[in-house]
Amino acid sequence: MVPPAAEARRPGGAIGGDGATWLGRQRITLDACGSTNDEAARLARAGASHGTIVTAAVQHAGRGRLGRVWASPPGGLYLSAVLRLPLRSVDVPPVTLAVGIAVHDTLRALAAPVALKWPNDVVVAADHALAGRKLAGVLVEAQSSGPRIDAIIVGIGLDLDGGLPPELAAQATTLAALTGVTYPPSAVLERLLPHLEHWIDRTVAGGADTLTAAWEARMVPAARVRLVGEAGAPVGTALGLDRDGALRVDVGGQVRRVIAGEVVLEPLA
Ligand code: BTN
Repeated sequence: MVPPAAEARRPGGAIGGDGATWLGRQRITLDACGSTNDEAARLARAGASHGTIVTAAVQHAGRGRLGRVWASPPGGLYLSAVLRLPLRSVDVPPVTLAVGIAVHDTLRALAAPVALKWPNDVVVAADHALAGRKLAGVLVEAQSSGPRIDAIIVGIGLDLDGGLPPELAAQATTLAALTGVTYPPSAVLERLLPHLEHWIDRTVAGGADTLTAAWEARMVPAARVRLVGEAGAPVGTALGLDRDGALRVDVGGQVRRVIAGEVVLEPLA
């Protein structure tokens, strides 16, 4: 294992926890780094094996989707995993769905009322006072040589307790705020790994179809969403997913496909 270029490191546990077999067998546990996705990508290029995970207590340059910053104060879970899967580039979107499902199921198992918002945000479910606030995000990046995928880096950020910057106060929340329980990041990690492993294995075995149905069963039901990437930013009702992971949205009786970018949840009418 190539040592990470990070500020500090400790040897991690040797065996995947609580039911995980291959995921987390190799662990890099950092006190701090720029981005665990960058650390995992560097390790992957240096030959890190399938299932290697990198966690950090703090990230100084945590990255979100669409070039955004992912605030990463102490107390959150910041995890990246290196996956070596027999997949083509077109098969990567289902992996991102699988990761969202796994994070959702982990939080539900901890009694957090959450749902999925396309493409992969885990948000507070519609029947709660904090409905729509984001609790977790997923950033999946691929390393490829031509059409072949060498490695997929799965990054997951989970807000567990406090420390969110004030500018996020209206959009985000934490597991502690939702459940009244402060879980240490390591405890949530051990709960998460078996779910992740299960859904990734299922993606490889079964392809996109089972994932689409599972994702739809967990999405914010009939969410009103604004298509911020389209002219006039129209609002419609999210219907579900196409096989390629695109979101189908009914806008005034016409079904539109959203394949990239993002949609914004609108308050319920
Ligand atoms: C998003 O919702 O925009 C995705 C956020 C992903 C954040 C995680 S935290 C661990 C990993 N390292 C990063 O720099 N980003 C991901």
